[in-house]
Amino acid sequence: MDFMDGLKRTHDCYSLTETALDQDVVLMGWVLRRRDHGGLIFIDLRDRKGITQVVFAPEVDADSHQKAHSLRSEYVIAVKGMVRRRPEGMANSKIKTGMIEVACRDLRILNTSKTPAFSLDEEGEISENLRLTYRYLDLRRPHMVESINLRHRVCQAMRSYLNSRDFLEIETPMLTRSTPEGARDYLVPSRVNPGRFYALPQSPQLYKQILMISGLERYYQIVKCFRDEDLRADRQPEFTQLDMEMSFIDEDDIIDLIEGLMCFLFKEALGKDIKTPFRRLTFQEAMDRFGTDRPDTRFGLELCDISDIAAGCGLKVFQKVVSAGGVVKAINAKGMGDLSRKDLDDLTEFAMGLGAKGLAWVKIKEDGSWQSPIAKFFSEEEKKAIVQQLGAAPGDIMFFGADQKAAVYRVLGELRTELARRRNLVPEGKFNFIWITEFPLLEYDEDEGRFVTLHHPFTSPRTEDLELLSSDPANVRSRAYDLVLNGVEIGGGSIRIHQTSVQEAVFRALSIPEEEARDKFGFLLEALAYGAPPHGGIAFGLDRLVMVMAGKDTIRDVMAFPKTQKAQCLLTHAPANVSMAQLAELYLKPGWKR
Ligand code: AMO
Ligand code: AMP
Repeated sequence: MDFMDGLKRTHDCYSLTETALDQDVVLMGWVLRRRDHGGLIFIDLRDRKGITQVVFAPEVDADSHQKAHSLRSEYVIAVKGMVRRRPEGMANSKIKTGMIEVACRDLRILNTSKTPAFSLDEEGEISENLRLTYRYLDLRRPHMVESINLRHRVCQAMRSYLNSRDFLEIETPMLTRSTPEGARDYLVPSRVNPGRFYALPQSPQLYKQILMISGLERYYQIVKCFRDEDLRADRQPEFTQLDMEMSFIDEDDIIDLIEGLMCFLFKEALGKDIKTPFRRLTFQEAMDRFGTDRPDTRFGLELCDISDIAAGCGLKVFQKVVSAGGVVKAINAKGMGDLSRKDLDDLTEFAMGLGAKGLAWVKIKEDGSWQSPIAKFFSEEEKKAIVQQLGAAPGDIMFFGADQKAAVYRVLGELRTELARRRNLVPEGKFNFIWITEFPLLEYDEDEGRFVTLHHPFTSPRTEDLELLSSDPANVRSRAYDLVLNGVEIGGGSIRIHQTSVQEAVFRALSIPEEEARDKFGFLLEALAYGAPPHGGIAFGLDRLVMVMAGKDTIRDVMAFPKTQKAQCLLTHAPANVSMAQLAELYLKPGWKR
């Protein structure tokens, strides 16, 4: 049976306005709400585009009025009727169709619905587990539709921009071998190669470099990547990158191209003008001033180094930290001197949660004197010097962190954003892009007892630092760059190594034995030897970019089917058990326990 009985939809629930008065229309969608008003029944009919009011009146059509009594939330209906102006005082200026309604002459119930587990009618908080379990209901809600829509517009704009600049869209394999992006791999056992495994790509890094060696010059792909790592608000086990690579270019070519891309995306997808060029900060400057390599520069609260002054002060902890090679840094929280004792206890707990040993603070009173548990340890001169360095004034409060550099950066960097959040210092609708450059190539990993890369091992060192690779690896700077938007790392890339000898030197600096390097990356080393052009690229976290554009706090709100913190899909219940027969076929034995 044809449920729609030959009825054809003529309009969506967004487009009807007074210009359509007296027209006959057919709408199809879901019942958002039903209101019974004595003789009349009103339905808010919803589809992907919007909401239109439908009215059922016995004098217009007794049959559909009768049927309308049975309508419930999320029933799927088709409605035929005439567009008419809403009566005086009944208009709704909040929606585009708010001046009109459709007087129903013919109602078809296309499907019924169980009562939804949550109301689709409210903006209020709904448990995320419920939303993910019934994702098909959640995705019907207007703000989710808008996220999905925005994501679509962003992808279209990306393709359009890159296509017009001579890029080729090329797919790369999902069943591949492990690449070193720093996370754990998702492995896929091979049935036809017993005991061997594919890895799902953490990124198409090696393939895109091979594409450059293949002479394809400009590549892009909107591609799924897989990383088995601890999840956070902006991390998912599978996520999407806009991945790109180009030959015969340097850092500035990529930066120019990407600034153009961002302007285009924001204009096309959001109608916003973005100013270029973007600010650039070196890694060191970002760390020193903001405590992080992904600073949110929409507000101040910068870190200030007072190690020199602290070195001679009477506070033992500060003194000791400095003499042990650590640092003392401070933040002047302007105008926040009214923070209560409880606020300060909370903030101290927050800092300790991040590994701080304490959180010293100083309030500047009206007369300029210090109110603080540590005031007595500082001479008037030291106080003056600190106040001057931080630009502190009455009504301000200064926070101090003393520890090894990395710990102070972590704690004060997070404290900075926490203070801004608590005091609503983060302006809405602002988009601050920042390039971070001059990353160190390597950092020493205490746990592993060796140097590891900050990006990946294919990132080129700066030519002038090449000699340091063997003598002073910690001070080699790389040709990597990250793009940060409102404190979120939305993309990162680098100019790559295109010479076998340099690649081998980097593997050596990483203490990767030659044999292992040959085993894992032999194909790359071999390919580099066949006329590899100078090349470089970048990859963007599409989910993160769209999250920021949509003003959301988590990438889960801009993905159709995200996973939970435990990497589970509540809709399909993946990951799931498989049969013994399937395991046997893959030569896998069940029974491993942690
Ligand atoms: P990188 O590892 O920095 O670089 O990844 C690029 C961008 O991908 C996003 N991203 C993620 N988004 C959501 N969930 C995750 N688990 C996740 N991990 C990363 C971030 C990040 O900036 N091959 C290199 C790129 C290159 O050198 O060209 C790479 O993958 O926004
Ligand atoms: P104490 O002398 O341990 O009582 O500390 C005095 C003040 O300094 C307290 O407010 C502590 O929270 C703070 N404090 C202690 N250690 C540190 C540290 N490493 N960094 C910042 N503040 C600290």
